[in-house]
Amino acid sequence: MSYKLGEVILSRDTIARRVKELASEIVADNGTDNGLVVVGILTGASFFLTDLVRELPEELDARIDFMSVASYGDGTKTSGVVRIFHDLKSSIEGKNVIIVEDIVDTGLTLSHLLDILKSRKPASLKVCVLLDKYERRQTEVKVDYCGFRIPDKFVVGYGLDCAGKWRHLKDIKYVVEE
Ligand code: IMP
Repeated sequence: MSYKLGEVILSRDTIARRVKELASEIVADNGTDNGLVVVGILTGASFFLTDLVRELPEELDARIDFMSVASYGDGTKTSGVVRIFHDLKSSIEGKNVIIVEDIVDTGLTLSHLLDILKSRKPASLKVCVLLDKYERRQTEVKVDYCGFRIPDKFVVGYGLDCAGKWRHLKDIKYVVEE
């Protein structure tokens, strides 16, 4: 089966506006007195993370770290058992941590990742996702900050890929069968 790009679901301007709002929400909740470790999940969330952190105020001590994970599965379904390819460089014990993810779908990956990071005893652990395909959720996962709720259709761009393709698009678009 081959795929092509479909309509724009979220334009670059809409994304940029929402990213600013999310940064304000994060600062309103967490203040600027305590530091924040922003954990990006590679590769998809890297675009969103770099835009988000640049909207945080200078006085906030924000540190950035990345993890690369993949969930075991049969190729079409995620099992939620996460394998870590690249782990955090620094300890998060006693730190205020926010996980930044591109999209939450079944919720299995994020839920397993939360278990892993919780066991490392951060002072607080929150989740910020750009997109939420809420109709597909299989396990409850607490999303503290969400950019957009979207329908159950495959999307690409702004970090999101389809078999490695189309991550670099500035807008988020639907993918359709050719
Ligand atoms: P889940 O929540 O464990 O099902 O998995 C979330 C992961 O599925 C995300 O990190 C993405 O890599 C991938 N994913 C789910 N829906 C899409 C989509 O529409 N476009 C691109 N990747 C997606």
